[in-house]
Amino acid sequence: MTTLQQILGTDLPLIQAPMAGIQGSAMAVAVSNAGGLGSLPGAMLSPDVMRSELAAIRAGTGKAYNVNFFCHIPPVPSTEREATWRAALAPYYAEFGIDAATIPTGPGRNPFSAEVADLLAEFRPPVVSFHFGLPPESLLAQVRGWGAKVLASATTVDEALWLEAHGVDVVIAQGLEAGGHRGHFLSHDLTAQLGTFALLPQVVRAVRLPVIAAGGIADANGVAAAMALGAAGVQVGTAYMLSPEATTSAVHRAALKSNAARHTALTNLFTGRPARGIVNRVMRELGPIGSAAPEFPLATSGIAPLRAKAEAQGSGDFSPLWSGQNASGCRELPAAEITRALAQGFQSLPA
Ligand SMILES: Cc1cc2nc3c(=O)[nH]c(=O)nc-3n(C[C@H](O)[C@H](O)[C@H](O)COP(=O)(O)O)c2cc1C
Repeated sequence: MTTLQQILGTDLPLIQAPMAGIQGSAMAVAVSNAGGLGSLPGAMLSPDVMRSELAAIRAGTGKAYNVNFFCHIPPVPSTEREATWRAALAPYYAEFGIDAATIPTGPGRNPFSAEVADLLAEFRPPVVSFHFGLPPESLLAQVRGWGAKVLASATTVDEALWLEAHGVDVVIAQGLEAGGHRGHFLSHDLTAQLGTFALLPQVVRAVRLPVIAAGGIADANGVAAAMALGAAGVQVGTAYMLSPEATTSAVHRAALKSNAARHTALTNLFTGRPARGIVNRVMRELGPIGSAAPEFPLATSGIAPLRAKAEAQGSGDFSPLWSGQNASGCRELPAAEITRALAQGFQSLPA
């Protein structure tokens, strides 16, 4: 039987979760060199930065790595929804002395595109992973053309079956504990979203592909538990967020280290899509799920200046403090050490 390590080209069946906004090539290089699969999140990178980050990975490791993208269909901007959003934020603009007329509108995150696929083709990354479904068939064929393995997140059994039918190599079962954006794409009904313990065995039963467990795995015991439930490997995000290789902001690091990290919720206020973060002022006052936020990713621009002003004052009141439910594994240790500690969980498995 082909193992996940053979598919990924790694020593360990362990993926460092791509985490847009809080890490780049440095973490990917460190994890890949430690035997896991390091990931570069591409969702928020301009083509120029993407190129330099891919070059840095190529210079930093000869090992396999992953590049990750979002696959949403950009919404048609609505002036009415934008106005509703700005009205909801107006008291905060006034509080911070922000002139709302100066705030640009526009997307905060771009989906995988032909331009990005061409750029990627120059580097031929061995693994490419997707969140929110898959890109159009022609782009997927281009990625497969250089031999890349394709991974994608599923948050329900239906999504896992859909991904299998559309030819992915590995399914990532993303449980509700996970930090950051929910990867759902077939249904927006949040009552269908399951915790890792409930989702993983159901997905393992439903598909023939290897299944990677993600969400709430923060230490070696968590890794062993996921493997016992039939996972072929794990994807871990939150536990890496305090490592020196992460670019996690000062307010975000402080929140992760504080008791506040015990309180997370799904919120759509920062981007327009539900994502798990540490509860802060704007989530308490307008949400955590608020009807005023426009569709993903259009909520981003309205809230961005508030985030900037608040962070300049040392406050995370308006920041997306993404975190999974299990921040107990966050350590201020090099990513390679975190990888080695998690890898202990594979050794305790019965043969
Ligand atoms: C800060 C942060 C940013 C994230 N950004 C992305 C991303 O860009 N792409 C993606 O596929 N998943 C992203 N995720 C979700 C992870 O892939 C993964 O599902 C999650 O980290 C696993 O749960 P854990 O955080 O409890 O380990 C992000 C998670 C976090 C914590």
